[in-house]
Amino acid sequence: MSNIAEEINKRRTFAIISHPDAGKTTLTEKFLLYGGAINLAGSVKGKATARHAVSDWMEIEKERGISVTSSVLQFNYGGYCINILDTPGHQDFSEDTYRTLMAADSAVMVIDGAKGVEPQTRKLFKVCGMRGIPIFTFINKMDRDANDTFELLDEIEKELGIATCPVNWPIGCGKSFKGVYDRHKQTVVTYSDTEKGTKEGETTVIPIDDEDAVTQAVGEERKQILFDEIELLDGASAEYDLEAIRNGKLTPVFFGSALTNFGVEIFLQYFLQMTTTPLPRISKGESVDPVANDFSAFVFKIQANMNKAHRDRIAFMRICSGRYDADMDVKHVQSGKVMRLSRPQQIMADERKILDEAYGGDIIGVFDPGIFSIGDTLCMPKADIMYEGIPTFAPEHFARVRQIDTMKRKQFVKGITQIAQEGAIQIFQEYNTGMEEIIVGVVGVLQFEVLKYRLENEYNVEIKLEPLPYEHIRWIVSSDTDLDKIVGTSDMKKIKDLKDRPLLLFINEWSVGMTLDRNKGLELSEFGTA
Ligand code: G4P
Repeated sequence: MSNIAEEINKRRTFAIISHPDAGKTTLTEKFLLYGGAINLAGSVKGKATARHAVSDWMEIEKERGISVTSSVLQFNYGGYCINILDTPGHQDFSEDTYRTLMAADSAVMVIDGAKGVEPQTRKLFKVCGMRGIPIFTFINKMDRDANDTFELLDEIEKELGIATCPVNWPIGCGKSFKGVYDRHKQTVVTYSDTEKGTKEGETTVIPIDDEDAVTQAVGEERKQILFDEIELLDGASAEYDLEAIRNGKLTPVFFGSALTNFGVEIFLQYFLQMTTTPLPRISKGESVDPVANDFSAFVFKIQANMNKAHRDRIAFMRICSGRYDADMDVKHVQSGKVMRLSRPQQIMADERKILDEAYGGDIIGVFDPGIFSIGDTLCMPKADIMYEGIPTFAPEHFARVRQIDTMKRKQFVKGITQIAQEGAIQIFQEYNTGMEEIIVGVVGVLQFEVLKYRLENEYNVEIKLEPLPYEHIRWIVSSDTDLDKIVGTSDMKKIKDLKDRPLLLFINEWSVGMTLDRNKGLELSEFGTA
């Protein structure tokens, strides 16, 4: 039997985030190549298909070329066991991204060198900030014309409010891209377009002190620019500080080209040294040491019907401590049930690998017979662990939803309830009526389309969505409030959530304040918990 501490300590679990098209998928693919997890032939030839196969599951993703679900990939490299959590690229899925980040210990942010900080980068970054996790920046596409390097760093600092510390520095870009300077090792690594090769092949590594060799490799002009930039950089940029990195206050920055596979391995090697082993999570106010405790995990994502051929529902969980093995009985804390996890698996594309064992830091998917909810804890039957819940985002768009064919009421309610349990949407009911009227709340409007699409394709139910004008939702947190007695503004609507908790909807912020003024003792919150 392998040593549990050793296994856990070699785990590195991170999420990868970017604005769509910055190169997240390409970079992930290159990581996987280094780990030998996918083979080159398949990946290069059918690149487009390989890409969909790796991280895109839903038809809607393929049709629109966006990624709306998260996937999990595992590979081994250099003695580490690496778990990558892919995140949806589209802005309407930041809630999903937030949940995924809950399961990660750090994030890799991919930025397109020609575009810099883009809207989605900003949004995702904010989500990372909420989690306070370390962020590593990879500035991609240096084989194309890129923005001025100092300006790129400046933009990250100003727009995202995080200090930057370049670990390497690009030598030119586009047609005159010559490689990178490794500030730590003080070497120049020359660029070679290995044409998506398996390894970074033809690069040469030259000590910066060997000026003649550097000149020969990059040319006199580039060398001079590089030397000037290094001098400027040493004076101006934030100092490398591992603690600040691990606290999410400083981001190490790397430059490269995922497509041509340059700078990827350099990044991977530094990243693995700088990022942490699986971090403890908090249960009942105390941190649970991953190594010193037996198996425990929490559910951060539920996904139904990932694969039409399987028609199943999978709960993704992050193992927080100990070792999981397939024959073990575990306790589902929220229901108190002791159970055996059914067919735990690692999921990569359509391939599913049944696991015999997994360790703290790993992500596993298990078949969910309909008992798991997001935020649930699993632990050993005798343990007393309950991890902190995952906050839900306040929906900003609401619509009343009806099925077109009244005969299909049952499928409709089942479908919409399941999709809500997965956390893809939130559903509410009119206050004082039953399930007759369902109100759907989403953070981004694309989720409405996903709902419509999924109900049609997975449950065979057509729906009609009627947009409602509300934009602000508040959960009532004061315990002695009588919903009937609340005196609100004329635009206020009383509803309740799936757990029968009372809520208020408002069209504008002003009404929220007004209602608070009019009802003494009323306390409202923007967040529910999953
Ligand atoms: P995403 O997951 O962040 O959305 O981005 P993805 O990797 O899909 O990359 C988006 C596009 O950018 C792809 O081109 C990809 O080949 C290209 N790309 C990624 N990294 C680099 C790089 O380092 N240099 C250059 N020059 N291009 C890069 P596409 O035309 O949309 O797709 P395809 O036809 O190449 O499949």
